Amino acid sequence: MLNTVTCIEDLRQLAMRRIPRAIFHYGDRGSYAEQTITANSADLARMRLRQRVMIDVSDRNLATTMLGEPVSMPLGIAPTGLTGLFHGSGEIIGARVAQSVGIPFCLSTMSICSIEDVAGAVDKPFWFQLYVMRDRGFSKSLVERAIAAKCSALMLTLDLQIQGQRHQDIKNGLAVPPRLTLGNALDIMGKPMWALRVLMGPRKSFGNLAGRLPDANSLTTLSQWIAGQFDPSLNWNDVQWIRSLWPGKLILKGVLDVEDARIAASTGADAIVVSNHGGRQLDGAPSSISVLPDIVAAVGDKTEVWFDSGIRSGQDMMRALARGAHACLIGKSWLYGLGAAGEEGVRKALEILRKELDVSMALCGVKDVRNIDSSVIA
Ligand code: GLV
Repeated sequence: MLNTVTCIEDLRQLAMRRIPRAIFHYGDRGSYAEQTITANSADLARMRLRQRVMIDVSDRNLATTMLGEPVSMPLGIAPTGLTGLFHGSGEIIGARVAQSVGIPFCLSTMSICSIEDVAGAVDKPFWFQLYVMRDRGFSKSLVERAIAAKCSALMLTLDLQIQGQRHQDIKNGLAVPPRLTLGNALDIMGKPMWALRVLMGPRKSFGNLAGRLPDANSLTTLSQWIAGQFDPSLNWNDVQWIRSLWPGKLILKGVLDVEDARIAASTGADAIVVSNHGGRQLDGAPSSISVLPDIVAAVGDKTEVWFDSGIRSGQDMMRALARGAHACLIGKSWLYGLGAAGEEGVRKALEILRKELDVSMALCGVKDVRNIDSSVIA
């Protein structure tokens, strides 16, 4: 079915046609004037790769490790909210495909399938991402549920105590569970397969929160609910609190500043993720790639530094690895695949990125992904 799909942009176009506008825009767009989301892609695209010739590249290796565990390529699936609205059981699909491809999957606090739903559907451990709510008892219970589900790492998001406004979500009246209104009826009628799978499917609300937090299954708007529930007082002392609750590997996501990276590394975190939340939070913040090298120079010997925000191709992965990232995470790139064609689409997205990285390595004369460094930049 996806024979003519050759790049992530093709999956994006398909997803745009197949899922409701409000869901697509939630995944696709950035905050405010979208300066940062635009810069993420533009600054990656500006980096030129150095072509090398006449090097025997017949034997290439893309496998490496993340948190000391083997991975088939330096890529993980980032936590994305509302994923099960892109396709029924979206989070389970993501976890299963990641597992079969040999890369990590991170489940979001704001997922539609719950921690227990995913744990029951896969046989290898996945990761759990934590948003800290004002109700600290509930946040603690989320960590306990991740322990019970045998999650192998906890990813604490640092950059969303308060949500950056996404104009389009407000204009679309993005609500969870999705509502059929006069305004979106035509749009949804044009997406019958989506309506069948999601609107008439069993899971439409936040699986981890529904029934446990006020209004979690009847939100007016997502942004209003986040403003009421997420804890804006979250600070570095809380990392120690989370460490005391969580015995496993800890990943800190959302670092964009060298000073913050130093503090994050000093907490003993096993990895930090250089990320501006895919340009969805502070608009006007620098692109993720532009701050990566200084952060790697400051803390790369103390913790694994991963890259997130802007990866739409294997060439982009190559650029981030060249600038010192140990591995990359993708949000939008896999959600486009999921919205376009469910499991097949997610497989396709990962296959596209893998092939592009592999070919780019070969044409740059690099045989092992672990050897990519700044020498591949022209
Ligand atoms: C949540 O992580 C969001 O970006 O909406």
